[in-house]
Amino acid sequence: MPFAQVGNFTQTPGDGANGFAAEVVVRPAHHFTLAPRGWRHAEAATITTSGLTAWRALVGDAQIKAGDTIVTLGTGGVSITALQIAKAMGARVIVTSSSDEKLARAQALGADAGINYRSTPEWGKAVQQLTDGKGADVVIELGGPGTMAQSIEAVRVGGHIALIGVLTGREGVIPTSLLMAKQARIQGLIVGHRRQQQDFVRALEQTGIRPVISDSYGALSDLPAAFKHQQSAGHFGKITVEW
Ligand SMILES: NC(=O)c1ccc[n+]([C@@H]2O[C@H](COP(=O)([O-])OP(=O)(O)OC[C@H]3O[C@@H](n4cnc5c(N)ncnc54)[C@H](OP(=O)(O)O)[C@@H]3O)[C@@H](O)[C@H]2O)c1
Repeated sequence: MPFAQVGNFTQTPGDGANGFAAEVVVRPAHHFTLAPRGWRHAEAATITTSGLTAWRALVGDAQIKAGDTIVTLGTGGVSITALQIAKAMGARVIVTSSSDEKLARAQALGADAGINYRSTPEWGKAVQQLTDGKGADVVIELGGPGTMAQSIEAVRVGGHIALIGVLTGREGVIPTSLLMAKQARIQGLIVGHRRQQQDFVRALEQTGIRPVISDSYGALSDLPAAFKHQQSAGHFGKITVEW
């Protein structure tokens, strides 16, 4: 994506501006993209933020190819979509999680290996071992300061770290000399542009990937409960609210 086309998000509903929980919205036609054929609204809602971000990170920015090794952190919405995309593109995928049960679910979805980041806090080294000391081509970095050091440890020389989330906080220490030695690229990103969303929709139709929705709520008034559930990390993949 040319940087001249990267906008800021001050006017984006649900990000810089209110508007993601509206029952009716009016926008110019080019603000909308057709959903994949046959998808329910709740499924299509998973595309616009977590799905598109995972797609842009892997396909737009990191330009993954079959045979690459991808590490993705945790088992939330971005990570599970990244797993699905990367597997569809022929990559090897290593997932981290705080839960062995969730790791088993990720492996049932196609993950090649799982690392419990609670019982293996030095999971970057575990990635090195799983890749015969080479490291991962791409790390989907969702933790931020609390996980970046391990992501740098995990990535291969010349690899790519997609900095998407800051689940562990907004600022922290980065092992700069290790990053330099790894000659790795850290790419910060915020979602993606419309053309990438259209490409993603086409890929979803072609591959047959459907979103993994672990919990669904049925009323607008359920929003606080849905957010609480997300905070408790009881979910695997996406949580939806439909009314
Ligand atoms: N830049 C962007 O455009 C963009 C777009 C979408 C989301 N985001 C950000 O990306 C992050 C993830 O979003 P999401 O929608 O996928 O969230 P989510 O569905 O709530 O996923 C959170 C999961 O992350 C895992 N996690 C939490 N702390 C972790 C840690 N220290 N190390 C590894 N994994 C950890 C947990 O997985 P386990 O339960 O398996 O341990 C948790 O369930 C958030 O910070 C969100 O704001 C950014």
